[in-house]
Amino acid sequence: MNILVVGGGGREHAIVAAIERSRQDPSIYAVMSKKNPGIAALCEDFLLEKETNVEKVVEYAVSKNIELVVVGPEAPLSVGLADALEAEGISVASPKQKVAQLEFDKAWARNFMRKNNIAGCPIFDVFTDKDAMDAFIDELGNVAIKPAGLTGGKGVKVMGDQLPNLKAAKKYAASLLDMGSVVVEENLVGEEFTLQAFVDGKNLAFMPTVQDHKRAFENDLGPNTGGMGSYNAAGEILPFLTAEDVESSKQIMNDTIKALYKETGQEYKGTLYGQFMITKDGPKVIEFNARFGDPEAMNVLPLLESDYVDVLAAMASGTLDKIDVKFSSKATVCKYAVPAGYPDDPTKDREVTVGDIGDAILFYSSVYEKDGKVYTTGSRAVAVVGVADSIEEAEEIAQNALENISGDLHYRSDIGKSFLIQRRIDHMNKIRGQ
Ligand code: AMP
Ligand code: GLY
Repeated sequence: MNILVVGGGGREHAIVAAIERSRQDPSIYAVMSKKNPGIAALCEDFLLEKETNVEKVVEYAVSKNIELVVVGPEAPLSVGLADALEAEGISVASPKQKVAQLEFDKAWARNFMRKNNIAGCPIFDVFTDKDAMDAFIDELGNVAIKPAGLTGGKGVKVMGDQLPNLKAAKKYAASLLDMGSVVVEENLVGEEFTLQAFVDGKNLAFMPTVQDHKRAFENDLGPNTGGMGSYNAAGEILPFLTAEDVESSKQIMNDTIKALYKETGQEYKGTLYGQFMITKDGPKVIEFNARFGDPEAMNVLPLLESDYVDVLAAMASGTLDKIDVKFSSKATVCKYAVPAGYPDDPTKDREVTVGDIGDAILFYSSVYEKDGKVYTTGSRAVAVVGVADSIEEAEEIAQNALENISGDLHYRSDIGKSFLIQRRIDHMNKIRGQ
């Protein structure tokens, strides 16, 4: 089988690695904007091209007799890549534009949730007018402000975090009106986690819950990033969650998939990413993404025991209920090494060398290969993943590996450490009044 993966980051390296493990011995092809050495090494052939260039990607897929495509990042989905590939008769295990809207239009997504009575929707409203928006900000008193469109996770600002007070919230919200509508919602208090599922239009197969770390520096300080690292516990439940929290979150995602079909007449096929805040009132939806998380894909895909190619084909053909999707019951810790100065003022074009990483798994992200050497681009560079029976052991594997990767890089050594996880547990206990 000829399979094409679109995207050239750490998430896509993990996707390609999982496909490569398949018993079906597929031939793998890739489209990426820069040559990711990890992906290139596992591919039959690759095209260096912008992933949003729909025409070029489709032309490449047709020329290579591709039978199945996985799209890693959201940007190509937002310009209808899945639709264009399907129009050529190629199976796609990623969602079409209309249903991928769930990610790329936050205003649409919130209105959709409210209209369909999806549980876990925060109090919100969508504005194009400053006066009405200011009144709503005053009414809520504590808010998160979001531009409606895609901003790579960097447009959202929250009070008590990036916004010191109501005045700053109003000023920031007003500045976004020039770009389009603005979503104002209640500031949710709790712990964030990620629940991802394979979806075939009707059926969902859930993956273990994962917690990402968005802040650039140790102890959750500094600016927000794409994600500095993530972990999961052995089994599907994070240490600060209850089985009921996870069940309610699954129900929300099941209801969302049903409602999406009702609303759009189109089936959602592909990975669905639910970002939740567990609050004193149970799980609330921060957002949905129409793809795997990065880094979260790197936690769960190495644990997938079922054949990923079977899962991909089942998503595309609507037969996920016919296969048993299994993950091994192990803990993982994923840590990113990122360029010095990332995210605000990162260094670029610096060489990265990988020494002895022991038992860790390495995924290359935003780097490029030139004359056999690997260089940074300014975004997250390489990720290492430790897999073990406990989070503690997995952390040690990842940490040891990072210490043997050299370059002008930094990373968070606290991710996955017991004291940080205990802090999450204590935080949730306090919120739950325990
Ligand atoms: P997003 O781009 O929607 O993932 O948002 C980026 C970050 O902003 C999230 O990871 C949360 O930490 C935070 N955030 C978004 N919405 C809210 C909210 N309603 N309440 C509190 N924090 C939020
Ligand atoms: N790790 C957050 C995301 O992929 O959106």
